[in-house]
Amino acid sequence: MTTATTFQDVFGSPPAVYARAPGRVNLLGEHTDYNEGFVLPIAIPQSTRVAMRRASGPRSRVHAAAYGRTVEFAPGTDAPTDEGNPFARYVSGTLLEAAHEGLEVPALDIFVVSDVPIGVGLSSSAALEVAVLRALRDLLGAEIDDVRIAQVAQRAEIEHAGVRCGIMDQMASSLADTRSALFLDTRTLRRQLIPLPEGSSVLVMDSGVARSLATSGYNQRRAECEAAAAALGVPALRDVDYVSAVEQLTDDTLRRRARHVVSENQRVLSAAAGVDAIGFGQLMNASHASLRDDYEVSVPAVDRLVELLQQHPGVFGARMTGAGWGGACVALCRYGEQEKVARDVLPAYADLGETGRALVPELDQV
Ligand code: GLA
Repeated sequence: MTTATTFQDVFGSPPAVYARAPGRVNLLGEHTDYNEGFVLPIAIPQSTRVAMRRASGPRSRVHAAAYGRTVEFAPGTDAPTDEGNPFARYVSGTLLEAAHEGLEVPALDIFVVSDVPIGVGLSSSAALEVAVLRALRDLLGAEIDDVRIAQVAQRAEIEHAGVRCGIMDQMASSLADTRSALFLDTRTLRRQLIPLPEGSSVLVMDSGVARSLATSGYNQRRAECEAAAAALGVPALRDVDYVSAVEQLTDDTLRRRARHVVSENQRVLSAAAGVDAIGFGQLMNASHASLRDDYEVSVPAVDRLVELLQQHPGVFGARMTGAGWGGACVALCRYGEQEKVARDVLPAYADLGETGRALVPELDQV
């Protein structure tokens, strides 16, 4: 592995443009976006940075600092997946979708460096896609707004990474910041920035359980939701206003999946209508129970970490976050107490035989 830390180290001279985009943590509204429902993510401090210029040769080159590898591919094609740089495929997919959008994408030299944790549910891939599109926008002087960037990035994820995801992650990376949550209606893309409840702050912890993956289970959940919506005679589960309406579903699995989605949408709407930190925390706790019992996307270690967080006096509420099957948890803490909560909870979690770590804020040492 090389030790390149800058674009110039790899490509010999400086880039033309730089861009960055953050990861996100979802506070409420899990598995609602592909049901055309409501979500409430917030950006995290960690971000992906991209440096870019037109290539002098006919091929694009993508170097990812994390992997120390440069992958080459012809413009208008997907990058090979087997060359030790998984970022390259996301980049080539994003460039292909940008071309479909009408941008004239030349051969490019691209350097990527990221501190967004990978594979824990904090949208490292959305951050990469959005950062690439921002850099491309600057390089080409293209007129493409932040919403369109999110839509192109989502298509890259669906078409080239094989996850039939919703648009939450890409919208959060493109439009959210770290101070306020993005209340988003994923059907209309109407949105509003909402401050965190007074006296609260966000803690994100990794359960240490690798999400092994997610892709097949995720696509299966999506199919179940589509089947539930069809059985209820609505275009999407977003169109079901009352939780009681799902009781008419005769299939037990579909009923539980639909109950999660309908109740989760209501939780997001309640939070967005304005609740204090205690109320917000209760909504997060209820969300976790619903994801664990009805949607069945949690795993035992994540449940234990969430319980430890929920029992801590400095915590208003906690839940798994992201698609599930392992990865990160999010807690709403009393303002300024996130570090203390993490330092208290980590040894108790270790006593259960698990290895967690704090991701936001990152701790110097535990
Ligand atoms: C992943 C997907 C999102 C969303 C979440 C679950 O992060 O990319 O679109 O569906 O899972 O809420």
